[in-house]
Amino acid sequence: MAEVVIVPDRASAGDLVATEIAALISRRPDAVLGLATGSTPLPVYEALRARLAGIDVSRVRGFALDEYIGIDPAHPESYASVIAREVVEPLGLTPDLIRTPPADDADLATAGERYDQAIRAAGGVDVQILGIGTDGHIGFNEPGSSFASRTRVKTLTRQTRADNARFFDAIDEVPRHCLTQGLGTILEARHLVLLAFGEGKAEAVAGAVEGPVTAMLPGSAIQLHPHVTVVVDEAAASRLRLADYYRDTFASKPEWQGI
Ligand code: PGA
Repeated sequence: MAEVVIVPDRASAGDLVATEIAALISRRPDAVLGLATGSTPLPVYEALRARLAGIDVSRVRGFALDEYIGIDPAHPESYASVIAREVVEPLGLTPDLIRTPPADDADLATAGERYDQAIRAAGGVDVQILGIGTDGHIGFNEPGSSFASRTRVKTLTRQTRADNARFFDAIDEVPRHCLTQGLGTILEARHLVLLAFGEGKAEAVAGAVEGPVTAMLPGSAIQLHPHVTVVVDEAAASRLRLADYYRDTFASKPEWQGI
């Protein structure tokens, strides 16, 4: 089962995950990070600034989960721009080693396959950071996505577009399509770390961790993976039936084990 860690706040979540990632990069300077966008991973990237001080990050590689189709890569809300601004620049990563799905590719029918090949050629993702949508999506795999899906074009749900409208001037500006890693792609990462904060995510988190494994809640795909860490605040944990068990388990875990 997923390890569930209930933390007091976002900063604690960021510290916990950043500590793990910094340790990974120390032992493997060319580690492959799976990068997520949105508000959720920001505390991890913020905590990494301090944790990576003095560690050589010049060889770190990264693959973003998804990218909007139909906006200029230079648009401030394209995920290429977001990853450059929130991750690559502040952490001092090497831009050429960090990729986002090529959603502006002239041949979108094969762009996903080529992205998956690039991930494989890099040796696979060591640690994949994930958020979860209020509709249960991970990456942009909306409800109904196949657990075997690969990187491909998806249509965003109305709910996702409404949720992401805060990043744009108007909901009509939120793209309707994206190129997203598939659930099958995500499940190949060696370690999945799913973060969620706030009451609005409680239902999706409970479904992903404890609900039936169903394509109707794509986050439930994490139950098929052998190494998953779910890091949530109290509000996002509020619908977990086994919350006390998760608390007891983490409290009695030896520190050297990490997550
Ligand atoms: P958020 O999005 O981090 O902005 O809440 C999460 C997601 O859609 O996966």
